[in-house]
Amino acid sequence: MAAGATYLGLDIGTSGVKAVLIGEDQTILASETSPLSVSRPHSGWSEQEADHWIAATIKAIAAVKSAVPEAFATLTGIGLSGQQHGATLLGADDKPLRPCILWNDGRSQAECAELDALADYQGIGGNIIMPGFTAPKLRWVQKHEPEIFAKTKKVLLPKDYVRLWLTGNYVSDMSDSAGTLWLDVAARKWSPELLSASDLTLDHMPSLVEGSESSGTLRSQLASEWGVSASTIVAGGGGDNAASACGLGVVTPDTAFVSLGTSGVVFVSNEHFSPNTAGAVHAMCHAIPDTWHQMGVILSAMDSLTWLSGITGTSAPDLTSALEGDLGAPGSGLFLPYLSGERTPHNDSGARGAFIGLDHNSDKTVLTRLVLEGIAFAVRDSVRVLSDAGSKMDSVLVAGGGGRSKALLKILASVLNIDLLLPEAGDFGGGFGAARLGLIAATGANPIEICAQPKIVESVSPDADLTSAYDDKYQAYRALYPALKPFTQN
Ligand code: XUL
Repeated sequence: MAAGATYLGLDIGTSGVKAVLIGEDQTILASETSPLSVSRPHSGWSEQEADHWIAATIKAIAAVKSAVPEAFATLTGIGLSGQQHGATLLGADDKPLRPCILWNDGRSQAECAELDALADYQGIGGNIIMPGFTAPKLRWVQKHEPEIFAKTKKVLLPKDYVRLWLTGNYVSDMSDSAGTLWLDVAARKWSPELLSASDLTLDHMPSLVEGSESSGTLRSQLASEWGVSASTIVAGGGGDNAASACGLGVVTPDTAFVSLGTSGVVFVSNEHFSPNTAGAVHAMCHAIPDTWHQMGVILSAMDSLTWLSGITGTSAPDLTSALEGDLGAPGSGLFLPYLSGERTPHNDSGARGAFIGLDHNSDKTVLTRLVLEGIAFAVRDSVRVLSDAGSKMDSVLVAGGGGRSKALLKILASVLNIDLLLPEAGDFGGGFGAARLGLIAATGANPIEICAQPKIVESVSPDADLTSAYDDKYQAYRALYPALKPFTQN
C-alpha cells in the first residue's frame, strides 16, 4: 500500500548507518542499519574511510526499499543526521585525501592550545577547543601531513560527505557546523577570523542552511536508480545529538534529554546562544532556525558498566538486576567514570577512572551500585554546568539503553532531584529526527509542530531520602577528581 508521501532519515553513526522511512503521519514504515567499523592505527586515534559511509548508506537504503517498496517509491524528502566533528578532507576531484579523523580521536591535544592562542575560538565558536572538534584536527594534519593539508580543497563533516554523494552540493547545517569551531555560533555563519587562524578560507567550507531547510535535490542518476522522484528534497539535517533532539521533541526553550548510551549526553534546547566554556559546556546551534542548544558530554556512561561487565564476566542486565527493588541508603565508596578521559566538566582527555573506599564486602553488586552512582554524578556535573549557563531543567526525557535499568533511573532521579520522563517504546533517535527534518524541508511544515514530544509512559521521581544522602555524596564525588588528578592522569 502506498501511503502518500514518505520521508527518509539517514543517520551516519560511528557504528553504522541507519535508514528510517516515515509516512506523512510520522509512523515508522521501515528502519534498517548497515554496520561500520572504526580503525585505531595508533593509541588514541580513531578513523573511518569516508567511502564506507556511502557503501553502508547504499546497503541501508536498499534494505528499506526491499522492505517497503511501494512506500519507498513515494519518497519526497530526505534528512541527514551524523556523528559530529569528523574531518573529511577532499581534494580537487572530491575524493577523500586520507581517512576521516573522528569525533573520539584524541591526537590533537597539543594543537588545541596552539589554536586557542591564535583567535577567539571560545568567544566566537562558543566552546573550549577540545581534540574531539574539527579545527584542531586540521591543525594536526597541517603539521604532520603538510602535503595533504596543501591539497585540501573542501573540509566536510561526515553526513555532509554523504550529502555531496546524494545531491552533488557542498552544504552543511548550523548544528553540525558549530562542532567544527569555525562557525560564529551566535550569528549562524562561518567566521572568517576563526578560519584564517586555521589557515583556511570560506572556499574550504560548504555553504550553510538551517537543518529544516532544503540543501538541494537528489542527483537524477540516484533518483532513477532508486525509482523515486528527482525533485526529492534533501534537508540540511543536523549533528546526531541535535537530530535526536528533533526526534524527541526537545526543540523549545529549557526542554531537555539525557542520553544514556556508550557515552552520555545531557542536551537542553535554548532560545539564545548561551555558552559556558569554563564548565566545558558545548554551546551550539540547534537544527531548527533561531534556536540554540547546550550539551554536556560524558565519554564513558554505560560504557563504564560494560567495562565492569567485562571484568566480572556478568552481563550488564544481570549486574543491574541485582539492584532492583529497595535500593536502601547509599553505601560508602565512590567510582569516577573517566575510563576514557572526560569532556564535561573537566575537558581532560588524560583523566582516568577510580574506585575508592572498597572493603571486604565490596562484591559485584556493591561495585555495580558505585558505577551507576558514578554515571549519575557525571550526569549531575553536566546538569550543574548547563544550569550555570542559564538552563532550567524541571524534568528530562531519557533516551538510550541506560533507560532500561530501573536501578539507574531511580538513582539518577534522586541524584538530579528532577523527574525523569520515559517515552513510549519506539525509535526517537537521530534517524527519526532527520526524517522529520526531511518532512519539514519538503512540505514547509512548522518545525515545532512536527518535532513534537513522544507520548510519556512513565515518570521516575526522586526519592526524598536518597536525594539528601546523594547531595552529600555528590560533594565527595566532586572533591575526588582534583584530589586524584596527580595519580590518575594517563
Ligand atoms: C558530540 C559528539 C558525539 C558524536 C557521536 O559532541 O562528539 O556525540 O556526535 O556521534
